[in-house]
Amino acid sequence: MLRDKFGRYLHYLRISLIDACNFRCVYCMPENIKFKAKADLMQDDEILLLTRAFVELGVDKIRLTGGEPMLRAGLPRLVREIKNMGVRDLSMTTNGSMLAQHARTLADAGLDRVNISLDSLDPAKFRRITRRGSLADTWQGILTAEEVGLTPIKLNTVVVRGYNEEDVVDLARLTLTHPWEVRFIELMPLGSEGMFALESLVPSGETRGRIEQEFGPLEEVPGYNGEDPSRPFRIPGAMGTLGFISSVTAPFCAGCTRLRLTADGRLRLCLLHDDEEDLLGPLRNGASYDEIKKIIREAAWRKPWGHQLDEKKFPTNREMSQIGG
Ligand code: GTP
Ligand code: 5AD
Ligand code: SF4
Repeated sequence: MLRDKFGRYLHYLRISLIDACNFRCVYCMPENIKFKAKADLMQDDEILLLTRAFVELGVDKIRLTGGEPMLRAGLPRLVREIKNMGVRDLSMTTNGSMLAQHARTLADAGLDRVNISLDSLDPAKFRRITRRGSLADTWQGILTAEEVGLTPIKLNTVVVRGYNEEDVVDLARLTLTHPWEVRFIELMPLGSEGMFALESLVPSGETRGRIEQEFGPLEEVPGYNGEDPSRPFRIPGAMGTLGFISSVTAPFCAGCTRLRLTADGRLRLCLLHDDEEDLLGPLRNGASYDEIKKIIREAAWRKPWGHQLDEKKFPTNREMSQIGG
């Protein structure tokens, strides 16, 4: 079992499969970003070997992220092999643009569910935020994912002042007629877009206020496990639920169970700290499987407690797109 020195049990691994993306969301990466060379990224067998080490160390929940994970060639095989390791919950966070074509293959390979980014239901605003994306493609991706059983469907909306803070009402309205969980995420500062993020934060309290003004007071949904970053709420009578991920105004670090593997094979101990441990280097230099597990165990132990976003301090060594959220 992986534990840190604060007694947190780390059983959720987020694996970034690729740093590249077909979108350029304003909060995630600069428009002119350069992606890493393929040789610097983990190869399939390296991903599988490292993942197996984490699973043997007690990881039972794995999320595939990017960049955009669906840009990774060979994704179905990775999904199949990772699921076969005995992972309880295997999911993916995606922009949804390619889901309509590939959702069924991924579900057949063993993917359990997907979280899909959706920042606006207005095609022009969707385009402005993603700089490249098409709302129609992502919408079709969401519907296909639901059709093939990649459920429960969760939609992620990063709320950005001047871009989509008014759109949260229409996004929340989706839950009246769909059994989806729509989650409103506070913009986190990270990397070269960090200053933009600090200036464009919309606190969750404000977002919730806008939604309640339209639909009335939200009801709390019972059964929250205390581990997910968002506590579920419901518009009275709605089919789906709403969540608020308030990393800046209400940090949830005490309940954190996460570790991250970056696409270039570094174990990132916390999304919001630069502290990382190289795993790919030792692997390529001939470290044994047991040595890799020892490196992971020791690094996990030193996972930092929390972040200092309230003091406007944020990590700068990577872009969000290189970590995968
Ligand atoms: P579920 O397992 O479905 O609950 O997924 P998830 O919320 O873990 O994954 P997802 O990729 O959908 O993440 C949603 C958002 O939560 C991310 O975009 C981040 O903004 C935020 N988030 C995820 N992990 C962390 C974390 O460790 N710290 C902070 N501060 N925010 C996080
Ligand atoms: N702040 C908060 N969430 C972000 N995401 C990407 N960049 C940021 C940011 N700066 C979200 C995406 C996606 C998830 C992986 O991370 O919307 O849903
Ligand atoms: Fe791509 Fe996701 Fe970053 Fe948008 S948030 S640019 S979809 S990796």
